[in-house]
Amino acid sequence: MRARIAGTGRATPDQVRTNDDLAKMVATSDEWIRERTGIRERRILEEGRTTSDLASDAGRRACETAEIDPREVDCCIVATISPDMPMPAVAVTVQQKIGLMPQCPSFDISAACAGFIYGMSIADSFIRTGQFKKVLVIGVEILSRVVDWSDRNTCVLFGDGAGAALLVPSESNERGILSTHIFADGSGVPFLNIPGGGSAEPTSLATVEAKRHLVKMMGKPVFTHAVKNISAAAKTALDHNGKTPADVDVVVAHQANLRILEAVAERVGLPIEKFFLNIHKYGNTSSASIPIALDEAAREGRVKPGDLVLMAALGAGLSWGSALVRF
Ligand code: ACO
Repeated sequence: MRARIAGTGRATPDQVRTNDDLAKMVATSDEWIRERTGIRERRILEEGRTTSDLASDAGRRACETAEIDPREVDCCIVATISPDMPMPAVAVTVQQKIGLMPQCPSFDISAACAGFIYGMSIADSFIRTGQFKKVLVIGVEILSRVVDWSDRNTCVLFGDGAGAALLVPSESNERGILSTHIFADGSGVPFLNIPGGGSAEPTSLATVEAKRHLVKMMGKPVFTHAVKNISAAAKTALDHNGKTPADVDVVVAHQANLRILEAVAERVGLPIEKFFLNIHKYGNTSSASIPIALDEAAREGRVKPGDLVLMAALGAGLSWGSALVRF
């Protein structure tokens, strides 16, 4: 039995940080950021609130939209690379904050910007095998807490946010998640990572002084691999289901960079007008980007019941994937 998305939700912080705000912090400009990335502003979570707070808000909204009592949820998956703390999982705190049943299995996955696609793939498998029936998948990042605000190469790109989807068994074989495909290539570890704070470089005064606990990135190889692999994953999704670009109603792809999405559109043969775009408002929210975009698209009527929705993403790992969904 297929899984379908019964409801979505999102939570984005109120505080806006514009490109002009960043130009006061590092040597950059609104024009440079807009032209290179398409980003105009991003959201920053206020002090005192955490990853699990935002994840819980998004998860609660997904349950409300699906009209499903949180106590009926029988599995909770949180995709994040910016958890409340290294241990335990954000998902167990979300379980408490949303009021899922005690003992509801709740765990995190780490696949960076591809995290939501990975999470959907796992949830889809659980539902297909009948192990679980109502699976809450949340993508959440508070990247403002792991970004080096003195590094103009990275700090202009990222933002905070959370998005969620509640997956349930589909009543019809025509509707729901038609396929998911997930991939990884660990030769990409040097391109994008947080080197400090784990077993490789345990936290010490020296690692903190050297800012090893913050995001490091080589932008060019990430850009190249993103275009190549997001395009390939999108084509795999279409070929697997015997669909063509003309069959796709809306593309909800990872919002990393407008130029990446324009290059993907050209490679796959999809007009950019079919892409739902909100990168200008939120920047790159990593694993939260697809579920935030999906929720916005659904609420704005850009994604309607019956639409064929193509999702694809790539992030640190490198990890990437795609999903084709009859909404
Ligand atoms: N403002 C002004 N100048 C900057 C900034 C900035 N914020 N950042 C970098 N520059 C400078 C660089 O230092 C460089 O200067 P130099 O020539 O004197 O050394 C110059 O601008 C050009 O830099 P490039 O790296 O050639 O710029 P590019 O056109 O490649 O754009 C960017 C950089 C936007 C980071 C691009 O490589 C990119 O988007 N890569 C993908 C990264 C990404 O999306 N990461 C997110 C996580 S993974 C994912 O989500 C897919």
